[in-house]
Amino acid sequence: MHLVAVVASFRRKGNSELLAKLALQEALKNGASGEVVYLKDFSISECTGCMKCVFKGVKCPLEDDVYRFFAKVKSADGLFLTAPTYVLSPPGLLKMVVDRYLLMREYFEEIYSRPAVSIGTGGLPNWGQFQLPMMNIFLLSMGFRIVDSFIAYGAGPGESLLNNKTISRLKSSLRNILKFQNKSFQSQISKHCPVCFSTLFERIEGKRYRCPICLIEAEEREDGFYFSEDNLNNHRWTKEKVKDHFENWILKTEVIFRKKLREIHKRKTELDAHRVV
Ligand SMILES: Cc1cc2nc3c(=O)[nH]c(=O)nc-3n(C[C@H](O)[C@H](O)[C@H](O)COP(=O)(O)O)c2cc1C
Repeated sequence: MHLVAVVASFRRKGNSELLAKLALQEALKNGASGEVVYLKDFSISECTGCMKCVFKGVKCPLEDDVYRFFAKVKSADGLFLTAPTYVLSPPGLLKMVVDRYLLMREYFEEIYSRPAVSIGTGGLPNWGQFQLPMMNIFLLSMGFRIVDSFIAYGAGPGESLLNNKTISRLKSSLRNILKFQNKSFQSQISKHCPVCFSTLFERIEGKRYRCPICLIEAEEREDGFYFSEDNLNNHRWTKEKVKDHFENWILKTEVIFRKKLREIHKRKTELDAHRVV
């Protein structure tokens, strides 16, 4: 087992870095190999939406380190992702990687169903509602199966190491990675989405809710949400659904767009006539 611990914090010796190092240390003790990878050491450019990677099937023309970073992720049999909470969600650098989603197709099938854990670091409870969903969108879009996900509290650098609950959860989540067996989801009642661990739900109607990250429907019960096995195993990020989304939506957008080109051109000309800069 090769564990890659990705740190998405710019702060040196901060909580994200220290927890990643602790996870790696534990992994090494258990006979695994691994490394800590610092996202800040990679130059990542903004996706410009040129779509060359999709419609021309070529490498991304941006000259940055995104492929070098993906190669690190791909080398992981198991992945640990740590990131600080900045205003309820992870730092923008992680989102910039997620925005290169279209390139991830190349890695998705190979990575599919490898185990991953995400730990968001944060100052205080109730100030990180988007943290785990955003971190886990990165993991799911790369193909990982999330085996645990939680927030480690501590504002100052290193403070999270003093929290015994954090340390024991980190160790148990690492064991989940090391002993991971790829099994399908079982029906269950849970307060979070069992696929992405999000506690954010959209209400459909009555007692029917939906996880907006995984598009899984759930029914409200007294002690949480009931998720059926069928719904859980057909979430948005399965191999089949991702393939379908690519082939039956993304690839087809070019044809749809071309059919509308004449009308778009007409409207653009009208806009130009108004000299809006
Ligand atoms: C710009 C900024 C915004 C922050 N916003 C939040 C927040 O919304 N919620 C929270 O719980 N902590 C917030 N924090 C605290 C950090 O998440 C916390 O200090 C964390 O441990 C930092 O992780 P690091 O040491 O790995 O960088 C913020 C810190 C900074 C610098």
